[in-house]
Amino acid sequence: MAAQRDPGADLVGLFPPGTTLDGSGALVLGGVPAPELAATYGTPALVVDEVAIRARARRYADGLAARWPNSRATFASKAFPCTAVYRLLAEEGLGIDVAGGGELTLALAAGADPAGLVVHGNAKTEEELRLAVEAGAGTIVVDNFDDIDKLEKILRDTANATTGGEQPVLVRVTPDIRPDTHEAISTGQNGSKFGLLLPQAREAIARLRGSDRLRLDGVHVHVGSQILDTAPFAQAVEAVAELGEFAVYDLGGGLGSRYTYADRPPTVEEYLDAMIDVARRLLPADARILIEPGRSMVAEAGVSLYRVVSVKRGGGHTFVAVDGGMGDNLEVSLYQQRFEAAVATRPTGEGELCRLVGRHCESGDTLSAGVPLQDPQVGDLIAVPVTGAYTYALSNNYNGARRPPVVFVKDGAHRAVVRRETYADLMRRDLP
Ligand code: LLP
Repeated sequence: MAAQRDPGADLVGLFPPGTTLDGSGALVLGGVPAPELAATYGTPALVVDEVAIRARARRYADGLAARWPNSRATFASKAFPCTAVYRLLAEEGLGIDVAGGGELTLALAAGADPAGLVVHGNAKTEEELRLAVEAGAGTIVVDNFDDIDKLEKILRDTANATTGGEQPVLVRVTPDIRPDTHEAISTGQNGSKFGLLLPQAREAIARLRGSDRLRLDGVHVHVGSQILDTAPFAQAVEAVAELGEFAVYDLGGGLGSRYTYADRPPTVEEYLDAMIDVARRLLPADARILIEPGRSMVAEAGVSLYRVVSVKRGGGHTFVAVDGGMGDNLEVSLYQQRFEAAVATRPTGEGELCRLVGRHCESGDTLSAGVPLQDPQVGDLIAVPVTGAYTYALSNNYNGARRPPVVFVKDGAHRAVVRRETYADLMRRDLP
């Protein structure tokens, strides 16, 4: 079946800014032709445009500072927890949000300033909290009353030089807001496992105000991910403003990314305006505002490269099967995220409507349920744009897949920042 791309679709526009086509019509990522990257690193590979991440980080940091000077943009590192990415964002001066001990360890290894760490988690163990306190984490976000009990115990046992025995904390508030996003990535509603509803948040605040070991700096709110309108962000600020005046308000992350031609997420500036307009009306003028973008910081910087292994036609379908799939991109299986795709050596023009599928033993292992590909052949290189967020983080070894390398590109140069797993890696933890 012939399929025309959306006439308004600028295919290259979904790839990292600065992506071009070379003389032969092949995609050039960060100044490096996609076929050269595939030949050097093999497939599947996650290619990341370093310039795009840095530009995004500056846009967030500058945009926030221009609107609310006493502020900090913090990277929600769960979106891409690899040392090179931590290092890059720490270099750009961003704080780092870590969910638990593993991300905390990676952030510290990458040289992040502990004072800029925001430690999250709905089930932080005592061991993880101790690691955070001992590392001098600038902020720990209290998700439940057990966090308070554990932290008070830890601070009683630990004379911590960095904090002077006093740990700054925020209370995570669940404002009962339901953004229009996939249920599995909505966190602001009553029934979410994250945070405390307003009455319980008030109770936690009162308890923390009476604590001589924990310093209540303020409140935190995060209502979900891949949110494509600004209203829920404004509502979240209104909700936390009801809890009273604090020194710090952490407004979370959640801005959606443009995965398909049809997606029209708000710009960073529109998103910031929506929140800061409410903040100007309702929050204390001298308060500090933190934000924690994850997905929208890194999604558009990433491109996954695959090799076509098989093309099968029948029953009105064309299946183009590649050498990766749900082992390196779980977004489709978990959240039904839609991705576009192209043959990297001839990305533009008319194509055949194909089901781009992976190599895993699951029918749900689909990268794109319907995408036009131009004359797909075995051996072709396929590029899937906007794969920078949550793909590396959720990658796995299903069917013995070796997790792919992460390759940074910049100004015509390329370097692996994570190598491909080997079969020996697959056996490394096995104790025969
Ligand atoms: N802050 C907190 C407390 C969070 O839980 C999250 C994301 C963020 C910030 C960043 O949100 P973002 O800007 O990335 O939307 N694994 C899912 C996404 C889960 C998001 C979890 N929390 C996925 O693959 O889509």
